[in-house]
Amino acid sequence: MKNTSGFATKQIHIGKIDIPGIAPLATPIFQTSTFEFETTAQGANRFALEEPGYIYTRLGNPNTTKIGQKLAALENAEAGMAMASGMGAVTTVLWTALKAGDHLLADDALYGCTFSYFTHGLTRYGVDVTLVDFSDLEQVEKAIRPNTKVFYFESPTNPNLKLIDIEAVSKLAHERCPEAKVIVDNTFATPYIQKPIDLGADVVIHSATKYLNGHGDVIAGMAAGKADFIQECTLFGLKDMTGAVLGPFEAYLIDRGLKTLDIRVQKHCDNAMKVAKFLESHPAVARVIYPGLESHPRHELAKRQMKNGFGGIITFELNTTRERSAEFVNSLELCTIAVSLGDAETLIEHPATMTHSTYTPEALEEAGIGESMLRLSVGLEDSEDIINDLRTQLDRI
Ligand SMILES: Cc1ncc(COP(=O)(O)O)c(C=O)c1O
Repeated sequence: MKNTSGFATKQIHIGKIDIPGIAPLATPIFQTSTFEFETTAQGANRFALEEPGYIYTRLGNPNTTKIGQKLAALENAEAGMAMASGMGAVTTVLWTALKAGDHLLADDALYGCTFSYFTHGLTRYGVDVTLVDFSDLEQVEKAIRPNTKVFYFESPTNPNLKLIDIEAVSKLAHERCPEAKVIVDNTFATPYIQKPIDLGADVVIHSATKYLNGHGDVIAGMAAGKADFIQECTLFGLKDMTGAVLGPFEAYLIDRGLKTLDIRVQKHCDNAMKVAKFLESHPAVARVIYPGLESHPRHELAKRQMKNGFGGIITFELNTTRERSAEFVNSLELCTIAVSLGDAETLIEHPATMTHSTYTPEALEEAGIGESMLRLSVGLEDSEDIINDLRTQLDRI
């Protein structure tokens, strides 16, 4: 029996598929839509879940099963699953957890399309949605209703890097609503830095497009939690409600990306800390938000909740006009203007007009997402080169 207790060992070895007689080191890509049954009885038994085995790739495929097991091991969850995008994961999990008449209580700073799905999507189907600031427990407590079934938040939040106390929110939620699920989008932190399930959350969601894959060449989503809930998400949320199935090749790429998750995220964190300190020291920068800086309002929580580092994302505002700020972004040479994050390349974007353009100006203000904020996803290049690119253009302001 292999010893797979360490994080790095898990990210490499968990879920290995043995193929006797061939024994490939890397998992082959099971590029098949369906699986053969030996007899009609075997097919019927598999559909009835009375016999294990694959049926049809929308219901399961060895490549997606493998990465689901891997994420579960990394998040200290019982089970995990993969979906065709981060939004596929959010919608699959919430279509499973909620029904008409239920109440969803969520933080007000969310990835733009999650915000849109909650406020324009779920509300059309009879789900009550309330957004409050989850960094203020009193606001959360006041917003709880008898029908609250899901507490949902990101930490750090996209794009303004607000930190939410996962342990405190989970405790409050479970005390007040024993049946409710606490669902945490752990995309920004990754399980290398933060494990929400250990802190009391029920379900973890990822845009695996980001750090889990890490190479900017896949759109994917994942979720992990209790085995019975993940099975319900697979056999109802994914199979019947969203159909957001991840292809075997994309699952293979995620599996490959996961093998280096810890060393990649550690370098993102190390680079981001250096870049954040540089930005904070530059007179053209009005404000830097990074959980690793002492100036972050919840730096103490960051130290407690985020292990191994503070992530690779920095949000900042310049001491200049919106137009000049746009010129600054346009003139960067190494930092690339693009949405997404967690890739090897350093990416910069303007949330108010890009990833968070689904928010109204009022909702942006309420969520503390400044119109002039810039979001930097610090990549894996040499930190000096990233800093020099930023410095050259900042000095011109
Ligand atoms: C925090 C967070 N959650 C979910 C998503 C959605 O993921 P995807 O783009 O893979 O659908 C994103 C995308 O940027 C995100 O940043």
